[in-house]
Amino acid sequence: MIKALENPPVEKLKSGVKAPTQETLLTPRFYTTDFAAVAKMDISANAEELQAVIAELKADYNRHHFVRDAEFEQSWNHISEEKRLAFIDFLERSCTSEFSGFLLFKELSRRLKENSPLLSEAFGYLARDEARHAGFLNKSMADFNLSLDLGYLTKNRTYTFFPPEWVIYTVYLSEKIGYWRYILVYRHMAAHPEYQFYPLFRKFESWCQDENRHGDFFKALLRSQPQLWKSWRSKLWVRFFLLSVFVTHTMTVFERAEFYEILGIHPRQYNNQVIEETNKTAARAFPLILNTNHPYFFWYLEQCAIQNHKLIALEKSQKGVIAKFFQKIPLIASIIWYMLRVYLMKPIEVEVTRGEVK
Ligand SMILES: [Fe+2]
Ligand SMILES: [Fe+2]
Repeated sequence: MIKALENPPVEKLKSGVKAPTQETLLTPRFYTTDFAAVAKMDISANAEELQAVIAELKADYNRHHFVRDAEFEQSWNHISEEKRLAFIDFLERSCTSEFSGFLLFKELSRRLKENSPLLSEAFGYLARDEARHAGFLNKSMADFNLSLDLGYLTKNRTYTFFPPEWVIYTVYLSEKIGYWRYILVYRHMAAHPEYQFYPLFRKFESWCQDENRHGDFFKALLRSQPQLWKSWRSKLWVRFFLLSVFVTHTMTVFERAEFYEILGIHPRQYNNQVIEETNKTAARAFPLILNTNHPYFFWYLEQCAIQNHKLIALEKSQKGVIAKFFQKIPLIASIIWYMLRVYLMKPIEVEVTRGEVK
């Protein structure tokens, strides 16, 4: 007989509401920015492309997609404990990052209404999509007798301030990496349906098109600001943001290797493919991309993941605060060292071949 999972062994705020995972370097962040500076942005240099992308967002191709069809109407109690815990962690992480996007876009849409109506409209569409994504994930959590209290999260998470330029770089990259993450899982599941233990993955194909369009909007916005791709300083920033996003992705995938193995996905191959594809895609927006073919590129990223794993183990250990503090220093220093090695690798200039990049 299958036992009902009335008391899932996860920390809860109140009955059925999961306590948010402790914030670490890798938990999705909540952002705020200088809204007045965004309102003042002159987007006329790329107005045509922006208008075309916004028309795509307005068309709302996925308005009927996020529906819980008959496949969801069943009990999931047969899923093993190990699978369930790894999946809940995935759902929580994904839901938090979708919701973080929703909050930022919603606020941008609200604050830009008067002085930048076109951007306000665009951010409104982005917020609409992210709310759907977060809501759908939260309903999936409810299938496992849990949900995330998004109101609690809104009030209690720390908000990180990013100037508008950083927001454009990081959100562009996170939308595009999000696209590749979802589409590669979808393609894998389509080829190996035996791993499809829950119907969420079937939704990913159209879902990731939302993320792709969001990325296209940020790309058009980025190209409307020549200082974000033309200057030598912008090249240094682009290298930094590409590297940070790829390091964070590697750390996350390796930290959750078990989850990918449950899906029948090889964590290292998946990580490498997501990074390679995202890097190639970024050539459409950025003046340069990283050289993922360098023989040490992925090796250094993985060294960062190994050091990060040690950091997490240290944090969880019973050691005192002072001991932890001193033992963390060499681990953090070594992550910075490996990141620096990747940062200093000669990047691939793509601005010169812009016309040829598809
Ligand atoms: Fe999303
Ligand atoms: Fe998105």
